[in-house]
Amino acid sequence: MPTKTRNMQNPMHIFWRAAMPDKGKLALAILLACLAALLEVAPFVLIWRLAEEARSGSPETGTILRLTGGVLVAVILRFMAQGGVTVLGHMAGFRAECRLRSDLVERMRHVVPASVEGKSGQLSRAVMDEVGRFNSILAHTVPDAISGLFLSLVCMGLLFWIDGRLFLAALGMLVLGLGAQGRIVRAAPEPFARWVAADGRATSALIHYVRGLATLRAFNRQADSLHEVRDSIFAIGKLASDITRACSKPYSIFNLSMTVPLLMILPCGLWFFTRQTLAVSDLLYATAIGGMMFLPLTKVAMCLPALRTFQAGAAHVQAVRDLPVFAEPPAVKPAGDNTVVFENVSYSVRSATGKDIPVLQGISFTLPAGSITTVSGPSGSGKTTLARLLARLDDVSDGRVTIGGQDIRSIPQQAFQRLVSIVFQDAFLFHGTIRENILLARPEATEDALMHAVEASGCAEMLKRLPLGLDTPVGDKGFGLSGGEKQRIAIARAFLKDSPILILDEATAFLDPVAAKGVSRSLGRLMGGKTVLAISHRLHEIENADVTLILEGGCLKDKGTHEDLLARSAIYQRLWALQKQSSVWRLGG
Ligand SMILES: Nc1ncnc2c1ncn2[C@@H]1O[C@H](COP(=O)(O)OP(=O)(O)OP(=O)(O)O)[C@@H](O)[C@H]1O
Ligand SMILES: [Mg+2]
Repeated sequence: MPTKTRNMQNPMHIFWRAAMPDKGKLALAILLACLAALLEVAPFVLIWRLAEEARSGSPETGTILRLTGGVLVAVILRFMAQGGVTVLGHMAGFRAECRLRSDLVERMRHVVPASVEGKSGQLSRAVMDEVGRFNSILAHTVPDAISGLFLSLVCMGLLFWIDGRLFLAALGMLVLGLGAQGRIVRAAPEPFARWVAADGRATSALIHYVRGLATLRAFNRQADSLHEVRDSIFAIGKLASDITRACSKPYSIFNLSMTVPLLMILPCGLWFFTRQTLAVSDLLYATAIGGMMFLPLTKVAMCLPALRTFQAGAAHVQAVRDLPVFAEPPAVKPAGDNTVVFENVSYSVRSATGKDIPVLQGISFTLPAGSITTVSGPSGSGKTTLARLLARLDDVSDGRVTIGGQDIRSIPQQAFQRLVSIVFQDAFLFHGTIRENILLARPEATEDALMHAVEASGCAEMLKRLPLGLDTPVGDKGFGLSGGEKQRIAIARAFLKDSPILILDEATAFLDPVAAKGVSRSLGRLMGGKTVLAISHRLHEIENADVTLILEGGCLKDKGTHEDLLARSAIYQRLWALQKQSSVWRLGG
C-alpha cells in the first residue's frame, strides 16, 4: 500500500508561485523600474536640447527655463519611481516569503517524522535563510536587472538615432563584454552550488559545536571540535576566493568594455566631425550617451551572483518540499475496538551507502484492547523501533500494523492522533508556560480537565513549589526543570489527551530511583483501561504486565507472563539477573 507521496517541481517555480498573488505589485514595480530608467536618460536628452538651443544663437528664455525645469522634474520623479520599486518589491517579497514559509511549515505537519530527525539545522536554514533571499531578489535583483537592460536598450536606441555609425562602433565593445560575461556565466553555477553547500556545512558544524559544548568542556575537547568549525569556515573562504580568481579576468574585460565604449565613439566621432558628417552637438550628445550606454549592464552583471546563490539555495528549499509525506487516506472507515495487531512486520533503514539495514524482521503479536504488554530485550534489539512504528513515526517496510482491524496507514492523521499517545524517556517541552505545554494535548480542554491531569500526573506537588504555578515559563526543551518534572508534564499531557492506546518508551529511564517510583505510580494511573505497549529496563515495573514480548536482534524471540518467561526464557533470565545486580550495585562494591 503506497503511503508516502513526493512532490517534484522546479526549485525556482515554487518561488514564483509564492509571488504570484502579488503579480500586480510586481508588474507595477517592473514598470516603475523601466520608468526610472527612462527618467535617468531624460536629463541628457533635455541638456542636449539646451545645447541645441544655445547653438541656434538666439536662445529663448522660456524654452531654457522649461528645459531646465524638466531636468529637475526628471531627477525628482526618478527618485520617486525608484522608491516605489523598492517599496513594492519588498512588500511582494515579504508576503511571498511568508506564504512560502507557511506552506513549508504546513507540509512539515504531514511529513514522515523519521525523515526529518537530526535535520533541524538544514530545515531551519532552508525555511529561514534560503527563503529569506527571495525578498531581496524581488526588491532589488530583478528590478535592477530589468531596469539595467532597459536603460541600456534606450541608450543604444538614442545613439542609433543620433548616428548609426557610432552605434555600430560602440557595439564592438558590447560584443567583447558579452563574450567575457558569457564565460563568467558558464563557469559559475557549479562553484556557487558548492559554496552554498559549504555554507550549510559550516552552519551545521557550528550548531553541532554549540549543542555539544557542555560535553566537550567536560572532556576539555573544545579546541579539537572547534577545528571542525574553523575548517568549514575556511573552506567557504577558499571557495569564495576560487570563484573570484576564476572570474577575475573575464570580469575585468567585461568591466572595461562596459565602462569605456567611448574608446570607440570618441575617435570615430571626432573623425566624422573633421569630415563634417557629424554636428558638434551630436558629437557631445553621443559622447554623453555612449559613456553611460553599457554602464547599466554592469548592474545586470552584479545581479548574477545573487541569482546564482538564490538558485543554489532554492534546491535546498525544494528538498524540504520533497520530504516524504503521509498520504491522507480518502475514506474514513469506522475503527473497531482498540486491539493492536502487528502482522509479520519488518522494518529497515537506508544506510549512508544506500544499503537497506534490517532493524525488525517478521514480527507478529497482538495487544488485546485494555491489556498491558511490555517489551524486553537487550539494547539495540529494536524495542524503540517497534514503539515508533505503532506511533506511526515511520511506516513499516513490510507487513502491517492494525488498530481495531484497520491498517494504521488507512486511518486519517487526525483520527490516528486521537487514538495513540506516547511518552518517551526524555520529554520534549516547548518554549512557553507549563500550562501551554500540557494544553498542547487538547487545547480546548476545560480548566477542570486540566486540573485533573495535573493531579493525576503528580504535577501538583511540583507546581506548589513554583511561585507562578502553571504559568511558570519553561525554556526550550524544558530548560530549568528536572528530568522527573519534565516527565510529569509529559504524563499530564497524556492524561489530558486520554487516548485509548498508550505507548511508554523507557519513561523512567533517566530518573533516579525515588523520582522513578513517583513517576511509575502516575504511569500506573495513566495506564488504567488502556491498550498499553510499555518498554522498560526496570523489569520490576513490568512484573504485573499481562504479557511480555522478548526481542533480540530485531526478531520476536518469545512472549509470556513474567513467571512463564522467568521459568523458561534464557534471555529473560539473563535480563532479570542483570537487573537484580544493578539494583544492589553500590560505590566501591
Ligand atoms: N534511523 C536509523 N538509522 C540507523 N540505524 C537505526 C535507525 N533506527 C534504528 N536503528 C538501529 O536499529 C537497532 C534497534 O534500535 P532501537 O532504538 O529500536 O533499539 P532498542 O531496543 O530500543 O535499544 P535501547 O534498549 O538501547 O533503547 C539499533 O541497532 C539502531 O542503531
Ligand atoms: Mg530504545
